[in-house]
Amino acid sequence: MAQSARRSEDPLVIAHRGASGYLPEHTLPAYAFGYALGADYIEPDLVLTRDGVFICLHDIHLEATTDVEQRFPDRRRSDGRWYALDFDLAEIQSLNVHERLPGRYPQDRGRYQVPTFEEMIELVQGLNRSTGRDVGIYPELKAPTWHRTEGKPMEEAFLALLERHGYEGPDAMVFVQVFEKEPLRRMRELGSELPQVYLIGGMQRADLEEGSLRDIATFAQGIGPSKILIEADPTVVERAHAAGLEVHPYTFRADDVGEGYPDFEAELERFFDQLGVDGLFTDFPDRAIAVRER
Ligand code: G3P
Ligand code: CA
Repeated sequence: MAQSARRSEDPLVIAHRGASGYLPEHTLPAYAFGYALGADYIEPDLVLTRDGVFICLHDIHLEATTDVEQRFPDRRRSDGRWYALDFDLAEIQSLNVHERLPGRYPQDRGRYQVPTFEEMIELVQGLNRSTGRDVGIYPELKAPTWHRTEGKPMEEAFLALLERHGYEGPDAMVFVQVFEKEPLRRMRELGSELPQVYLIGGMQRADLEEGSLRDIATFAQGIGPSKILIEADPTVVERAHAAGLEVHPYTFRADDVGEGYPDFEAELERFFDQLGVDGLFTDFPDRAIAVRER
């Protein structure tokens, strides 16, 4: 069954790594909480396991958010890192996931698992059915070029998985996001018409020039710039809109408010009302929704 289209006039609130301000990132509870708090889209970051399964994880390494070092002390590479790509799904799902950041959810509490992308989709689609809402997914392919050099290209398998779950065509309730242009172009060449977003890091100012934005618009519906880039040059929103691109900056955090703002709400208000973004990634979706609805 195809997922139906629903584009809101209001700026989108994207639950970044789930409601990761409240629960360990990229866990099913964090995704479910983001859903319950009213987010329009839920964001999983994706990497591959050795046996070729898409899992929800921010890093290509496992040690920042799991107990892999204790469980598999001998499985690190020569650079001292534990790569998800060196482990089968069953091994990864035997790990305990913990909170990444101090000062948030207790880092020594609870039993959480790395979900597969399919488990995440089934959760969101299940909740869509039980609530009658139509919340979207906003998956990011992490390091697709690196995966390709490791013999594990992502794009084709990723699109096939999305299609199996009903995400097809330009109106599907999904945004596919990547920090690299080539994989986004490749997915167009593979025939994908899904909405795409090109992510832009804080140092990549050249990507925000008019010519570059026009090029990005040939393979993407939007850009996802670091919010720092918009602060440095607010005219980028207008330039992107003129090129036909939506603008979804990242990442808005109540415990890491942008410089010069008295509080989190003031920062959100400026991006929604004065800067005119079309959506934003936040670890605290409830706070962004409250500001949007003022
Ligand atoms: O994908 C948007 C934003 O999440 C990019 O930053 O590092 O949190 O994946 P990161
Ligand atoms: Ca991301």
